[in-house]
Order: sequence, then structure tokens, then C-alpha cells
Amino acid sequence: MRSAILGTGSYVPEKVLTNFDLEKMVDTSDEWIRTRTGIVERRMADKDTPSSELALRAAKKALQMSNLTAQDMDAILVATVTPDHMFPSTACLLQHKLGARKVMSYDFSAGCTGFIYGLIQADAMIRAGVAKYVLVVAVEELTKITNWTDRSTCVLFGDGAGAAVVGPAKDDEHGILSTYAAADGSLGDLLILPAGGSAMPASEETVKKNLHTLHMAGNEVFKHAVRQMEEAAIKGLELAGIDMKDLDWLVPHQANIRIIDFLARRLNLPMDRVVVTIDKYGNTSASSIPIALDEAVRDGRIKSDQTVLMVAFGAGFTWGSVLMRWQ
Ligand code: UT7
Repeated sequence: MRSAILGTGSYVPEKVLTNFDLEKMVDTSDEWIRTRTGIVERRMADKDTPSSELALRAAKKALQMSNLTAQDMDAILVATVTPDHMFPSTACLLQHKLGARKVMSYDFSAGCTGFIYGLIQADAMIRAGVAKYVLVVAVEELTKITNWTDRSTCVLFGDGAGAAVVGPAKDDEHGILSTYAAADGSLGDLLILPAGGSAMPASEETVKKNLHTLHMAGNEVFKHAVRQMEEAAIKGLELAGIDMKDLDWLVPHQANIRIIDFLARRLNLPMDRVVVTIDKYGNTSASSIPIALDEAVRDGRIKSDQTVLMVAFGAGFTWGSVLMRWQ
């Protein structure tokens, strides 16, 4: 039995931070940000709004589209690197906020590949008969771990949440056709939040040195992202036995428009079959794919029977893909 996405939802905070706002904060320009990344603006959560609140709003929309309720869920999985707390998990907080049954609920950290990893877990649970319906949520408030004095990172990230209700597919032709995931921890230092964990507990010194913010060797990460996203895309197509020319939609992780352009070219896909949101939301890490997917489903671009390939790369490093026939 295959599993399928039965409903999608997303939520981004109302507050907009434009490139022009950033020009006033660091030595950068709208022109540099647009041409080097494709980002025009991004969203920013309030100080008092934690990730679980964004997750709640996205999850409610996904449940509504699926015609199921929180009570129907057999597991709640949350992909995030910006949980409300180190523990308890944001998934447990979400279980409570949604009024779901006391089902298995947990967070996991897979960087920007979080939603892909989450779908793979949900698919496996459903196939194994552990769960019938799984709520997969990806949520990030990266603006809360941003170093606002570092122009090489602070212009890139935004906040948001995306969700999917995963359940049994209507037949064997629809739903998730292939999954592929990989990781390489030897390169973890290239994209890291150094302090606040057991390796470097919080101290006055770690705060002074800004070690509770995201650190990225952008250029290095870029090279790996391009290579591994291509690998994940090709593997996904191969495993599903789908030819490149039969691919209807690419929903890539939104880190940089140049990475997305490159991937589309390698897949021989015109850009009008690629879902792009980076201009509006920047890089929302794990949330970027489910937000883009939700937009394209709701505005009618993604239709029944079409093939949709989602591809991600992120901290860890992690990368992977999920290929579906939309039902
Ligand atoms: O989501 C998880 C995975 N993340 C990614 O995939 C991100 C991958 N990396 C990237 O998208 C790009 O590497 C960045 C957008 C982060 C940077 O773009 P780049 O073309 O790789 O720039 P660079 O780091 O090589 O820097 C080029 C120049 C440098 O100046 P010099 O040394 O050539 O004088 C930087 O100091 O651009 C400068 N620069 C900036 N200039 C204006 C870096 N950031 C900025 C900025 N505004 N915000």
C-alpha cells in the first residue's frame, strides 16, 4: 500500500523584512541580495510567537484540506532546528495545542531536509501499519538564531511553517512513488549553531561571541548543495522509474535561486514547472518545501495525476527527495 499527502497547509508571519530594511542594518544592497540569492523579502515572527504557534496554524490548514481532524492523527512529527525549547519537543506542544489524541509525537533535526525526512518516516509508518494518518510539520524561526551583524547570513533566512497530512493513497498509481535520503556528518561544521548544546553549553562567553547564532560557510555549502540536490533528484526519478520528461513539477528547497536554476537545467525542466517562493520568504529551512508545495496546490498549479518531485539539502549535511503522483 502506498501513502499519499491528503492535505497541505502553511503559515508565514505577517511582518515583512525587505532587502531595503537590511540595507539599513548591515553593509549590503538590494541589488546584491537579489542577484546573488533571488530573495526580495522575508517574514519574521514576533518576539513572543514561538515556532509551535506557526506550526499550529499550518497544521490546522492541512487538517482542514484533508477533511480529517487532529483526533484522527496517529503520530505527529515536527522537523525543526528552532524548536520552542530544547525539550519538551515542539511536537508535544503541538499535540496539546491541536487537541490531538495522546499519540507518539516527536521532533527531529535534519536541517533544511527536514520535511523530506519527515515524509519518509510517515510513509514508512503507514506502510508498516504503525499509523494510518501522520501529521508532518516543518517549522522554523531562523530569524531568532540569526546574527544580525553578519551580512553573509542575515540576509538569507526567514520564518514560516508548512504541514502535510499523510495517509493511505487511493490506489497504487498515486501517492509517494519513491523516497531517497542521505547524510554526511563529516561536513557538519560548515553549517552549524555552535553553542547551547552539550558540546558548548551556554555561558557568558558563548553569548558574547555570538555562538548561539547560525554560522555558515556559504560558498562551500553552495557547492555541496548543487551536487547533492542533483544526485537526490536523479535518484528519486530512477527509483520511481519515471523519466525526466514525464516530470510535471519540481518543488526544491529554497536556499538560493541560482541553485534552483541549476537543478532545473539539469532536469531539463523549464522554470514555469518549478515552484519558487524564495523571492517572498527567503530560506525558511525545513519549511520551504511544504510552504511552496501548499501554495502550488492551493493556487491550482499542482493537479491530480501530476508528478511532483521534492528535493532538499541542508545542515548535517543531509539531502534527499520524495517523488509523488498527486492524488
Ligand atoms: O539552506 C541550507 C543550505 N544553504 C545553502 O544552500 C546556501 C548556499 N550558499 C549560498 O546560497 C551562497 O553561497 C550565499 C548566498 C550565502 C553567498 O553567495 P556567494 O555568491 O557564494 O558569495 P560569497 O560568499 O562568495 O561572497 C562574495 C562576496 C564577498 O566579498 P569579496 O570577498 O568578494 O569582496 C562577500 O563578502 O560578496 C560579499 N557578500 C556580500 N555583499 C553584500 C557576502 N554577503 C554579502 C551581502 N551583501 N549580504
